[in-house]
Amino acid sequence: MISLSFFLLAKAAQAGLPTVIPKPVSMVAAPGGSFEITKDTKIVGADGLPAVKIFQSLLQESAGFKLRETRDGDQANAITFVRITGGAIRQEGYTLHADASGIKIGYDSPAGALYAVETLRQLLPPDIENGKVTKDIHWTVPGVEITDSPRFGWRGLMLDVSRHFFPVSFIKRYLDFLTMEKMNVFHWHLVDDGGWRIQIDKYPRLTSVGSTRYGITNDWDQGKLRFDPESKLPAYGGFYTKREIRDIIKYAADRNITIVPEIEMPGHSMPVFAAYPNLACQNLTPSTIPGRPATNVYCAGNPETYTFIQNVLTEVIDLFPSKWIHIGGDEVDKEFWHGCTRCQTLMKEKGLKNEEELQSYFIRSIEHFVASKGRRLIGWDEILEGGLAPGATVMSWRGEDGGIAAAQAGHDVVMSPTTYVYFDFPYAGQSTEHVYSYEPIPSALNAEQAKHVLGGQANEWTEWIPTTQRAEYMIFPRVAALSEDLWTPKENKDFADFTRRLPDLYNRLDRQKITYHIEAPHVNDSAIIFSDHTVVSVGAAPNMPGMLRYTVDGSIPSGSSPVYTSPIDVTTDTDVHFAYVTASGQPGDVSTVSCRKAAPIDVKTITPGWRVGYYEGTFELVPKFSDLKATGVSVVDHIGLESRVRDENYALHFEGVFHAETDGVYNFTISSDDGSWLKLGGATVIDHDGPHSDVAKSGRVRLSRGWHSIEVGYYQGGGAAALRLSVKTPGSKESIPVDRLVIQPAVQSH
Ligand code: ACM
Ligand code: ZN
Repeated sequence: MISLSFFLLAKAAQAGLPTVIPKPVSMVAAPGGSFEITKDTKIVGADGLPAVKIFQSLLQESAGFKLRETRDGDQANAITFVRITGGAIRQEGYTLHADASGIKIGYDSPAGALYAVETLRQLLPPDIENGKVTKDIHWTVPGVEITDSPRFGWRGLMLDVSRHFFPVSFIKRYLDFLTMEKMNVFHWHLVDDGGWRIQIDKYPRLTSVGSTRYGITNDWDQGKLRFDPESKLPAYGGFYTKREIRDIIKYAADRNITIVPEIEMPGHSMPVFAAYPNLACQNLTPSTIPGRPATNVYCAGNPETYTFIQNVLTEVIDLFPSKWIHIGGDEVDKEFWHGCTRCQTLMKEKGLKNEEELQSYFIRSIEHFVASKGRRLIGWDEILEGGLAPGATVMSWRGEDGGIAAAQAGHDVVMSPTTYVYFDFPYAGQSTEHVYSYEPIPSALNAEQAKHVLGGQANEWTEWIPTTQRAEYMIFPRVAALSEDLWTPKENKDFADFTRRLPDLYNRLDRQKITYHIEAPHVNDSAIIFSDHTVVSVGAAPNMPGMLRYTVDGSIPSGSSPVYTSPIDVTTDTDVHFAYVTASGQPGDVSTVSCRKAAPIDVKTITPGWRVGYYEGTFELVPKFSDLKATGVSVVDHIGLESRVRDENYALHFEGVFHAETDGVYNFTISSDDGSWLKLGGATVIDHDGPHSDVAKSGRVRLSRGWHSIEVGYYQGGGAAALRLSVKTPGSKESIPVDRLVIQPAVQSH
């Protein structure tokens, strides 16, 4: 049995170690002091390594001096790179030793030297304090001994540049993010229904027509007017020229990053059909399923389809050196093939029993072509349907099952399940901690099958990500957690220690002006209705010492806001905002406790029901009702949509008086499609505004016994509609419809 004191010692030793992410295979404090990099420090043995150039320019930017390279063996006051061949250093691995005499880096491949430099960056102090870059820095590296190499060879991140387009400068910045996190695959999703993003010389209409859509571009399906030249709405789009792509490929190669291009097929290819309509299935009426844009797929029964795809892939393969070429393959609406005479004729001719087999036929044909060019095809796990093409690699996204099936059949797989690594999902459903808990090798695989797991990657789909800031926020810090899933030996992983290292990551991100997420502080109540005074308290996360700050003046907490140490006394209407603020002054997500001074209402007559105002208009948020005139006012006995006259483009305002049977905390849950809010005593208990599908959101309000005003705001933009409200009272086990505790405001009296 290992003694408890061993664990305590191990923890204590960990606590003092540098905050490197991903955690190295082995890192121990080395005796012999620390080393300070100065303008006189030399670089020895650089040997044309891109890593050295990268380090020199980073340091020059921060420190203002450029380290000299020398070839000779003078290793005093030096960072010395030593190439160690013969297998002593693992693939992409390195060693790093620092003491007062200097820094020695052992590497075999340029990748190893790069990752040593990325570790070295993190051994240096961040040169930022309270939001300001500081020059007053000693560039000191602590005495340390590191041996390191990655667990997996495929450490990937996918960016969808179709739904929203991102400029070349951001693609390079994104590659920098991967480099920082020691990731080595950039999966570039260049084609989807939002636009075609890569220059193809043979088919200029792909970009002249297919890279542009019309309409509002922030949100999923707002581009439904895409490719409509009659539209008066602004054009949105862009694409990368071959020249730009070559430059990006070189930039990536210097950073040990393979760019895997994805040319999506046979679904998700609407821009192709806007440019070349004959490549889609014919004689079909567009899908009229509500809430879905008209769509189509490549016609598998049209020989021109295959010629076209081969020509496109030839240009793609000429451009990208990647061994893998991604051909998409997900979410093909096979109804089109089912209804297409050309496809049905081909199926008969080839003896294909169903559309799954047609899909398999299609992918096999593409795989054959890709293999003939000496490359390997990779596709989303739907390519398993109807039989997997012989040399195909599977990217498992619909959970782990596709990856398991493919690995068991002897195919290579990359794990990328929606359940852990979909970075377009909100943090509320896919927290950094959850990402950190991801194990890329499914437990269903035996050791032999597990060798087919090349690694994993996260996907950043951008239907809801219109800006670079948003793109950054959605990946940081989850990508740091993913990096550790893919690099660090399983047995070295420890979430508590990871969170110890996060505040330093935040400082480094601030230094580079990278937007990121810090969870909102956990507040007990979202609202408090009080008579004379109340106190607001919140529990600080133990791994963020001194970072929890608050404001009472409505502003977002900053580095100069007070640090929360004890409960806050409130005597007037106040919104108390809490946020973790980094040492460099950046706030994370904000939680608010809305406090309202409102004496219980004196009620004389109890007439159940709500007063509801009905408003017509096109809304994207719940409107400010006091500025509008109601189209109609009625009384209803329950929260719902019955007071509406039409099915879209209206808003409802419910008002009533709520009976709190005892003092205590009332937990309300609202479900709505689209947005809504709930107020009690004028305080916002639930803010669930904006366009969304029918999802629930809860809020807790502290109430004293008696009657309190209650209001619900709701709007319906388009498509499906829903509105429900329930409450769990302090004494009850179950939620009940709120209506039972509400009377009409008209009959109250003071
Ligand atoms: C996917 O998320 N449709 C691969
Ligand atoms: Zn067809």
